[in-house]
Amino acid sequence: MAVIKAAILGFGTVGQGIYHILNEKREALREKLGVELEVAKILVRDTSNERIPGTQHLLTDNIDEVFAEKGMQVVFEAIVNEEPAFSYLKQAIENKCHVVTANKVMFAKRGLELQTLAKQNGVFVGYEATVAGGVPVIKTLKNILLVNDVSCIQGILNGTTNYMLTKMRKEGWSFEEALLEAQRLGYAEADPYNDISGQDAFKKLMVLSDLAFGEQPAWAEVEVIGVDTISAEDVKVATEQGMRYRHVAEVERQADGKIVGKVAPMLVDREHPLFPIDDVFNAVAIDTNYIGTLTVTGPGAGMYPTASVMVEDYAEIIGKRAGFVVTI
Ligand code: NAP
Ligand code: HSE
Repeated sequence: MAVIKAAILGFGTVGQGIYHILNEKREALREKLGVELEVAKILVRDTSNERIPGTQHLLTDNIDEVFAEKGMQVVFEAIVNEEPAFSYLKQAIENKCHVVTANKVMFAKRGLELQTLAKQNGVFVGYEATVAGGVPVIKTLKNILLVNDVSCIQGILNGTTNYMLTKMRKEGWSFEEALLEAQRLGYAEADPYNDISGQDAFKKLMVLSDLAFGEQPAWAEVEVIGVDTISAEDVKVATEQGMRYRHVAEVERQADGKIVGKVAPMLVDREHPLFPIDDVFNAVAIDTNYIGTLTVTGPGAGMYPTASVMVEDYAEIIGKRAGFVVTI
């Protein structure tokens, strides 16, 4: 049986999740895809830190070692920030590797460039995990866009802050207590500023805009307000009034064709579709001309939800390459 070698760039919450799932589903993947996947290299900054027993020999802090590995065909990327992630994935694509990424900070800015480069090199880019964790919103959009026109996408795109707002409301936790727990659970970014300032939801919104509209609004024109503007007292008052805070990201095509976006906390009442979306869940409503409104919801962050959609991306790519559709 053919062996495909893979690298995992970044071995924190998401990278380790990928490794666990690839191990746990090894036989099922081999059977469905007809190839054996071998994780041959794992890139980190600190190779002395033992994360999963038995993986120490795979660790490197040198990207050149990843591409020097003979037979490398797939690169999973789960590091942070635009650089060096973009340069690594560019190098991977130029080396004819398929890439699967969870990095929305990089992908919001450089995603179209990577996809163009991938086409030129005959490889695929999977990026389901860049938006809404385990919720297959990218696949959903790709499945409807041949026929449907999207007019608006609205939703909760950050798991950390929805979890925080839920705990502040239900448990009476302070903002700081809720953030600490979201960090402990692996939902928050290494630097949680992106989560609480709204920048994380903004980047995800831009990835969705690229896919749904083929363009993004001018970044400077998008108002971005985070949950760091909401106190525990605000949450208490809203709850007493039968309302809930949700952090909502929205992008739409106006009648004049202009794409506009906004990211901000919103008070919703029990009639609003986002009212019951609690904990780490995200929900994305897509308005289309033929289907009407399509909503997808599920866990928006965390090790296994995120890593599982990355392994699904890998399976889809290998299926495409082999000319078949992967079915259950
Ligand atoms: P994390 O736990 O902080 O792990 C990041 C990993 O990347 C660490 O292993 C770190 O190495 C490595 N790394 C960072 N910069 C590096 C560099 N310049 N060169 C080599 N390795 C580097 O982060 P995470 O939560 O797994 O998130 C990873 C990515 O997935 C981020 O882009 C994030 O936005 C995205 N994402 C996360 C989630 C989630 O629920 N956590 C969900 C969807 C998407 P060391 O261990 O040596 O420090
Ligand atoms: N920090 C992000 C969130 C991870 O909480 O939504 C998922 O992208």
